[in-house]
Amino acid sequence: MSKELIRLSELTMAFDGEVVLDSINLVINDKEFLTLLGPSGCGKTTTLRIIGGFVTPASGDVYFDGVRINDVPPYKRTVNTVFQKYALFPHLNVFENVAFGLKINRHEGKKLSKQEISSRVLEMLEIVSLKGFEYRDVSSLSGGQQQRVAIARALVNKPKVLLLDEPLGALDMRLRKDMQNELKRIHEAMGITFIYVTHDQEEALAMSDTVVVMDAGKIQQIGTPEQIYNEPVNAFVADFIGESNIVDGTMISDGIVEIFGRKFKCLDTGFAENAPVDVVIRPEDVDIVDVKDGMLTGTVTNITFKGVHYDVIVDFKGFKWLIQTTDLVTVGAYIGIKIDPDGIHIMSKSDYSGKFGDYSSYSAEYDEISDVEYEPEEESAEEEMYEA
Ligand SMILES: Nc1ncnc2c1ncn2[C@@H]1O[C@H](COP(=O)(O)OP(=O)(O)OP(=O)(O)O)[C@@H](O)[C@H]1O
Ligand SMILES: [Mg+2]
Repeated sequence: MSKELIRLSELTMAFDGEVVLDSINLVINDKEFLTLLGPSGCGKTTTLRIIGGFVTPASGDVYFDGVRINDVPPYKRTVNTVFQKYALFPHLNVFENVAFGLKINRHEGKKLSKQEISSRVLEMLEIVSLKGFEYRDVSSLSGGQQQRVAIARALVNKPKVLLLDEPLGALDMRLRKDMQNELKRIHEAMGITFIYVTHDQEEALAMSDTVVVMDAGKIQQIGTPEQIYNEPVNAFVADFIGESNIVDGTMISDGIVEIFGRKFKCLDTGFAENAPVDVVIRPEDVDIVDVKDGMLTGTVTNITFKGVHYDVIVDFKGFKWLIQTTDLVTVGAYIGIKIDPDGIHIMSKSDYSGKFGDYSSYSAEYDEISDVEYEPEEESAEEEMYEA
C-alpha cells in the first residue's frame, strides 16, 4: 500500500487569469483508494483531468511510476475515467457497451480475438455484479446498474488507475450507499488505484484510505478518514467534515486551554504559551450535566429530533453550540455541560478562523431566549476539573 505511483509536484492551473489550482503537492500510492474532497469549484475535477492528461497544468509536474508524464497524451496513460454522466451507448446492450472499451484500444499492436473479448467482458461483469445481464438493453437498467456498466467499461482494459468523478452523484441516497460498498469491493477485487472525487464528506470518510481536503484551489489536509475527522488542521476542515463547534481559545500551556474565560484540560501539546487558537468540540463529545457540575452553563434554545439522537442548540452567553445527545432536555432549560480532555481538539489560527463553527443561525428565536445577563457561579466547576 505504500509504493508511490503518482506524484503531483507544485501543480498550478489558471483559467482566464484566475488561479484554480495553487501549488498542489500530492503523492498517490499504488492500490490506494484516495478521495479528493471539497466544495464546488475548489479544483477537484481539474486535478483529476490533469492526472488523466485531458488538461495540461500551467506549471508543475505529474509523475507516474517516477517518470514525468506531462506530455503523455491521455490514451497512452494507463488511466481510465468514470464520469457522473456515464454516457452509455443506448443502442448497444450491456455486453457491447463493456466490449466497446476494449475494441477501440489496440493491445500491443494486435486485435483481441472474439473469445478473448468475451472472457474479459464476462470477467468484468462478474466483478461489478452484473453476471447474466449481458444481453440486456442498457436503457432497461436502473441507475445503479447503468453505473456498474460504466465502471466495467472503464475497467475492462485493466488500467492501473481508475479516476472517478462524482460517479454516484445522479443516484438517490439509498442507492448511493449501496454503490459505495460496491465500489469498495470492486476496488479490492481489482487491486488497482482509485482516485475518487466527491463533495460528500460522508462518502469520502466511508470509502477512502486517504482523504485530500481541498478548498479554493489548495490542499488543506491529507490524511486517513480518522485523522481528518479527529485532527482537522484548520477551521475549514473541521467545519467541512461533520459538525463542529469552533470557538476562540488561548493555549495556556501544554494540555490546558482557556475557553470563555474557563480552563479546560485537553490532550494537545506543542503550542506556544498563551497562543491564540481555534478549539474544536464535536457535538457528540459534549455531555449534558447538572448546572452545579457544569464546566460551562447555558440555555437550551432549540431541539430537533434526529432519530438516533437529538440536536440540541445551547446558548453560552451569545455563542451557540450544537450538542448531540440521547438525553431528553427541554427548550429553555438551564443546563451544564462537561467535555472530556479527548473531546477537545486544538488548531492553529488560520485564514478560516472565525468563519465557521457557530450555530447561531440554527435558531430564529436567538435574541428572545439568550440570557446574556446571566452570570453563573463559575468557581466550583473549575476546581472540580483540576481534581479530576
Ligand atoms: N475549462 C475551463 N475554463 C474556465 N474555467 C474553468 C474551466 N474548468 C474549470 N474552471 C474553473 O475552475 C474552478 C475549479 O473547477 P473544477 O471543475 O475543478 O471544480 P470542482 O471542485 O470539480 O467543482 P464541482 O464540485 O462543482 O464539480 C472553477 O471555478 C471553474 O469554474
Ligand atoms: Mg467537478
